[in-house]
Amino acid sequence: MTLPGEVVVRPAAAGDVERLVELYATVADEGRWLGAEGPVDRAELRQRWGRRLSSDDGVHLVADASGVVVGQVSLELAPYGVASLGMLVEGGWRRRGVGTALVQAAVDAARNRGCHKVSLQVWPHNQAAGALYRKLGFEDEGLLRHHYRRRNGELWGAVIMGLVLAGPASAAGQEVEDDRGHHRQHDRGGDRDVDPDVLLPEGDVAREPAETQPAGEQ
Ligand SMILES: CC(C)(COP(=O)(O)OP(=O)(O)OC[C@H]1O[C@@H](n2cnc3c(N)ncnc32)[C@H](O)[C@@H]1OP(=O)(O)O)[C@@H](O)C(=O)NCCC(=O)NCCS
Repeated sequence: MTLPGEVVVRPAAAGDVERLVELYATVADEGRWLGAEGPVDRAELRQRWGRRLSSDDGVHLVADASGVVVGQVSLELAPYGVASLGMLVEGGWRRRGVGTALVQAAVDAARNRGCHKVSLQVWPHNQAAGALYRKLGFEDEGLLRHHYRRRNGELWGAVIMGLVLAGPASAAGQEVEDDRGHHRQHDRGGDRDVDPDVLLPEGDVAREPAETQPAGEQ
């Protein structure tokens, strides 16, 4: 699929905040794709975008169609090398290659920032997003069952998907305990002991996902 000639993917800038808020609010109003459900708190969202664009903890790219932002992708960069991806494309611009261009640019950016993996969550009913990610090499890693409460009280599950960018540093199952109670990790350079105290606690691992994923607040 060829991206329409007038569309370019570029880093989001401070001048995009109003349009990003608008775009996000519009897609949230669709009620079926994002974690957030409309109406969103625009003032709060404006502040959040301002903070994000002035920090180095993430990558924020937009699809710009002759000066109008029609799509957006964000990566939240966890300190352990995993980038959490969230994205959206305006309704009238879907199915024209914009989503593909955004994800490809985000994956390149994650690689350039030294990440070993891109991770995301998607609602099981979101066939468009699921197909887009699978087409670009993401694999299903699991299902969170009945996980997120919607405003109407329903509990929705979410599919966890991931794209590994670097070769695995350790074997599947990663970590085993040897007969001395030491944690041992296998990597390509051979086995090495791992101090149990420096293993990441659960809380650090479960960093808040990007807001355009199901888990995002809004
Ligand atoms: C998911 C989304 C970002 C896709 O963006 P897009 O610009 O339409 O994607 P593309 O045009 O690049 O499509 C790429 C591929 O995705 C799949 N796809 C996209 N839309 C699809 C649809 N409606 N049904 C089935 N597959 C679809 C196809 O495999 C498509 O390739 P093809 O057109 O050659 O068959 C867009 O639909 C969107 O913004 N949805 C609402 C927000 C959202 O769901 N965000 C993701 C939250 S996890």
